[in-house]
Amino acid sequence: MFGRLTALPADPILGLSIKYRADANPLKIDLGVGVYKNEAGDTTILNCVKKAEKYRLENELTKTYIGGAGSAKFNEQMTSLIFGDHQVISQNRVKTASTPGGTGALRVAAEFIARCKGGAKIWLSNPTWANHKGVFNAAGLDVQEYPYYDYENKTLDFDAMLNALKALSSDDFVLLHACCHNPSGMDLNNEQWQQVAQVAKDVGFTPLIDMAYQGFGDGLEEDAYGVRLMANTVNNMILCSSCSKNFGLYRERIGACTVIGETPATTEIAFSIVLGVARTIYSMPPAHGAALVETILSSDELRHEWFNELTEMRNRINGNRKIIVDKLAEKGVERDFGFIANQKGMFSFLGITPEQVQRLQEEFSIYMVGSSRMSIAGIAPSNVDYLAESIAKVL
Ligand code: LMR
Repeated sequence: MFGRLTALPADPILGLSIKYRADANPLKIDLGVGVYKNEAGDTTILNCVKKAEKYRLENELTKTYIGGAGSAKFNEQMTSLIFGDHQVISQNRVKTASTPGGTGALRVAAEFIARCKGGAKIWLSNPTWANHKGVFNAAGLDVQEYPYYDYENKTLDFDAMLNALKALSSDDFVLLHACCHNPSGMDLNNEQWQQVAQVAKDVGFTPLIDMAYQGFGDGLEEDAYGVRLMANTVNNMILCSSCSKNFGLYRERIGACTVIGETPATTEIAFSIVLGVARTIYSMPPAHGAALVETILSSDELRHEWFNELTEMRNRINGNRKIIVDKLAEKGVERDFGFIANQKGMFSFLGITPEQVQRLQEEFSIYMVGSSRMSIAGIAPSNVDYLAESIAKVL
């Protein structure tokens, strides 16, 4: 039976980490997978997480089943982190379930959409996170693309995006990135969010917002602007969030899938479908990561410490954006890379060819995704000269 199968290629993002680890070059640089790294190149555990783990070790009372929605307290805390004191909460129109990471949330959302309308069209930005297409295809959805990034001018092709969205139907679903667009780093500004939300309302399509990087763009509140505005504007919406990046809980696999309905009753019905979907895929979510997040968010002291640690991560990444732009200019590179300093979050496209990306990997042991997506967190004072010199050479 298994002899009939054909092997799949390595994942375009996760496969890079395996190659990077096997590379013996002491000068190697990892700009591949989106994980935060400190100046020493390490992805350490946040101090607030360490303290929450200690607390949990001493206070956890049971390992019995947690139920399909996961911890109610975590779900409540995540809903307020994302929505603040939004009216959808007081109106009882929002329900959140914990999921195994952000990818788990997306897969639940995909199956939920398939229950709303089998084979529905889901529109993804061009480009988008490499795994989005696979997740929605796996649920039998019809994956389509709307224009988003203008590769030539290194900016947002907003007019083309808006025109494409205006041409959709009320049966369609549209995936939007809340902030820190992966892979381009090119976000909608507040005014553009207002226009997109108005189109969503006029056309009647259902937005699915992917929020994997809250706090990595401009700040926790600022990064939630589009999500909160959209929830004010439309009747139905889905939100997928992740604690992988902002709490550094990558391997604990903790995220959430949130549905907002038109009334409390339709929201309850939608949520029952979400739970039904979860039951048939993984039954119930892992509890450890959720317990850490709820411990941090419900303690003034730990929450404050987390806020500071998140601010430090964001500031380092934003600083790196400026450092690489300046360094490339210093090394005599004539091409203008100033756009990198204006983009947000973990990633930007360097804007070089796949052949040049390959050369960086093979000749200089510098790893980035084939599209030239760089994880900006991998840049450090100790490697930025070598990085800029190597880029200059392949250019
Ligand atoms: C990334 O885009 O690098 C991260 O979201 C990790 C992943 O799962 O692809």
